[in-house]
Amino acid sequence: MKNMVARGVLSVVGRASQARLAAPEAAPKAAGRPDPTAILGALPLPIVLLDAANRFRFVNHAAEQFLGVSAAQLRQMCLADLVPSDNPIFLLIAQVRCGDVTVADHDLTLESPRLRKTGITVQGTTVPEEPGAVLLVLQDASPARALDRQLSFRSAARSVSGMAAVLAHEVKNPLSGIRGAAQLLEASVAEADRELTVLIRDEADRIRALVDRMDVFGEKPVERGAVNIHRVLEHVRKLAQSGFAAHIRFIENYDPSLPPVWGHRDQLIQVLLNLVKNAAEAITGGHVESGEITLVTAYRHGMRLAIPGSGSRLDLPLLVIVRDNGPGIPDDVKRNLFEPFVTSKPTGTGLGLALVAKTMGDHGALVEVDGRPGRTEFRLHLPMIPDDVLGMDLN
Ligand SMILES: Nc1ncnc2c1ncn2[C@@H]1O[C@H](COP(=O)(O)OP(=O)(O)OP(=O)(O)O)[C@@H](O)[C@H]1O
Ligand SMILES: [Mg+2]
Repeated sequence: MKNMVARGVLSVVGRASQARLAAPEAAPKAAGRPDPTAILGALPLPIVLLDAANRFRFVNHAAEQFLGVSAAQLRQMCLADLVPSDNPIFLLIAQVRCGDVTVADHDLTLESPRLRKTGITVQGTTVPEEPGAVLLVLQDASPARALDRQLSFRSAARSVSGMAAVLAHEVKNPLSGIRGAAQLLEASVAEADRELTVLIRDEADRIRALVDRMDVFGEKPVERGAVNIHRVLEHVRKLAQSGFAAHIRFIENYDPSLPPVWGHRDQLIQVLLNLVKNAAEAITGGHVESGEITLVTAYRHGMRLAIPGSGSRLDLPLLVIVRDNGPGIPDDVKRNLFEPFVTSKPTGTGLGLALVAKTMGDHGALVEVDGRPGRTEFRLHLPMIPDDVLGMDLN
């Protein structure tokens, strides 16, 4: 640990920073409070401070490792020596400087002959004491990983869609025949055997419902419009409270000024219904005494997603959270949570979250999960209406 701090201390670039670092070495305890630079140095998260000309002023040990360049070398370099100047990271830095805000960008690629990093989340912010300087936190972070996972869920969902088509053809049609035959038999068999024909009918209905549910995995383009997400949430809450979540308290924490979501209303209802249903089932299954589901909407600047196949990036500033105080996600389903047929429930199909991931993917949106006992949170990052559509009549 001591080593780590010492390394961190050494990895500070620039004279001013070094001067600041001399103090804790000389009298580490005298000041009575920890040295912030040493803490930054020891932080296992890569942190870089650039000056107004994008020269490296400070890197911590984690950043040295992340960039694969020593602090001594970095001291002689600027960012453009490491990544080509058309990299989106420069756009982010410019945005930070001109807006004086914190900006985050996800799924960036930092690529040059000496560096190859993909799926990186970069957060940038200004430093009030250092005019023109930008502090960057580089991270192989969870939203980026969530995105990766989401892309693989999408391919899993795609294989389900192929299967759904086969099932519809090969199962649904004969199933109608089986159901009809059972119904005919029902009229003629003895009372004692009627139970069996009812069983056949019910099971045929159950399989049909399952196949119908998989139908939504079809590859149809989404028709999108302006959706008032608060109305959607209201609708979902009412449905839940009049049915499966009648015994659960709902807490609503909305930002009333939130602009409309660019999406498909019915699909968004389906997504939120699945999340709220899971939350209610977790609370009920976990025998939580005062079950609570919290619905939150907020505007979050800076969440962006690359659009595959195009160079552009989509802003996802509209945040919707479904949180519950249930027992948390079971460890054995955590890794494959969004994949089809992953369930911990005796009667679950495991299609709920697969559908959420598929629909979010179709919306160019992102779903993240943050689960621990007593606080499980699903976060949807959704797009606003694009500028080129805003001018049109959306009724
Ligand atoms: N809020 C939550 N709290 C705890 N576990 C959850 C939560 N949401 C999902 N899970 C876990 O994820 C699994 C998969 O959820 P998913 O909605 O895909 O399927 P399901 O609920 O089991 O079945 P279905 O939705 O098809 O009825 C669940 O079985 C459960 O173990
Ligand atoms: Mg479910």
